Amino acid sequence: MQLTITAVDHAPADLAEQVPLTIELLREIPGTDRPDYWIGALRTPIRWRGNDGDRLITHVVVVARWQDTRIAPGIRDLPVGLAYVTDPSLLTDPKLDMSKCAYVAIGISSETAVDGGWHAGTAYEDFMGRWSRRVAERFIEWLAPEPRLTWLDIGCGTGALTETICRHADPAAVVACDPSEPFVEHVRARIADPRVQAVVGRAGALPARAGGYDRIVSGLVLNFIPDPQQAVAGMLEALRSGGVVSAYVWDYAGRMDFLRLFWEEAVALDPAAAGVDERARFPLCDPAALEALFRGAGARDVRSGALEIPTRFASFEDYWRPFLGETGPAPSYVASLDKAARARLRARLEHLLAPGGSGAIDLVARAWTVRGGR
Ligand SMILES: C[S@@+](CC[C@H](N)C(=O)[O-])C[C@H]1O[C@@H](n2cnc3c(N)ncnc32)[C@H](O)[C@@H]1O
Repeated sequence: MQLTITAVDHAPADLAEQVPLTIELLREIPGTDRPDYWIGALRTPIRWRGNDGDRLITHVVVVARWQDTRIAPGIRDLPVGLAYVTDPSLLTDPKLDMSKCAYVAIGISSETAVDGGWHAGTAYEDFMGRWSRRVAERFIEWLAPEPRLTWLDIGCGTGALTETICRHADPAAVVACDPSEPFVEHVRARIADPRVQAVVGRAGALPARAGGYDRIVSGLVLNFIPDPQQAVAGMLEALRSGGVVSAYVWDYAGRMDFLRLFWEEAVALDPAAAGVDERARFPLCDPAALEALFRGAGARDVRSGALEIPTRFASFEDYWRPFLGETGPAPSYVASLDKAARARLRARLEHLLAPGGSGAIDLVARAWTVRGGR
């Protein structure tokens, strides 16, 4: 469910300058006074000008202003309260802890709350889909599955992994699920294969299959799940005995070159960007952490690995354009910058990557893989 905040009241002046805010509501969390607070991810981070410098706020707590009103799809002009999440551990807490928030605004009127994620399929394709398709192929080679298996692809996005399974693993059936309705629609429209069924679903609420799935996979998703250990335990439960759960995530801290270079330059210009850099946000994206996650969830025969793909950008424009698409952490950060700051970042990157003008830019992207059975 998505909420668009179009006006704020009793709020810091700088917040008013940053509306509209688009918030993807992730999870309802109970508080001491009511059960219906929501944790939401901001499509574009809010820049919070504190006494000790700028901070970027990526998540907020949202609640309908009146006790007898609940946030629901289709409601228009709903007054809500808004608090900044200042401690990321709140994202995995089962209960609301307002001490981890800065209470910021009341009397906020939201234009509408409608079903639908903030992800735009084509923008994602341009930014990440073109690389995730290649890494998906390498992943299937690494798994070396037998033919005619039943698969569940969790967090299918625009369908990169599902398509690759169909093309290279000769499956009996693939269920592709994602919490984002637009992504599910995108998969339904793009993949005509009769073996594929695309449904709305998420870790913790997986589409069930009698007898369990032979293979459960998840590409570039685990680090976005609030409680990954519970999620992996749920995946193991959804397997048939003898089945395998496997996943991969980008090496954000190391050789995910095109993002690493982006964040290094962004942080050099704006120290507040360090807080939204995926290297800091996703410590799970490391082979030892992934193996510990799978073992902690009860998986057996756990193994990790590494996959590398070349990422060739035809020109600096080809590198930079996808950062303007507003989908994903780095493009959302770019959208939070004013025109001059954006131009400075672009110029630094251009100087670094294409000092002699146009020409191809050859980089590498690495993903870490992990697998385990029940
Ligand atoms: C980076 S995309 C990866 C998409 C696709 N698997 C690929 O390789 O291109 C991350 C996906 O995870 C999905 N996602 C986010 N939270 C999730 C959750 N709790 N359970 C399942 N999927 C989730 C998002 O909607 C998004 O489609």
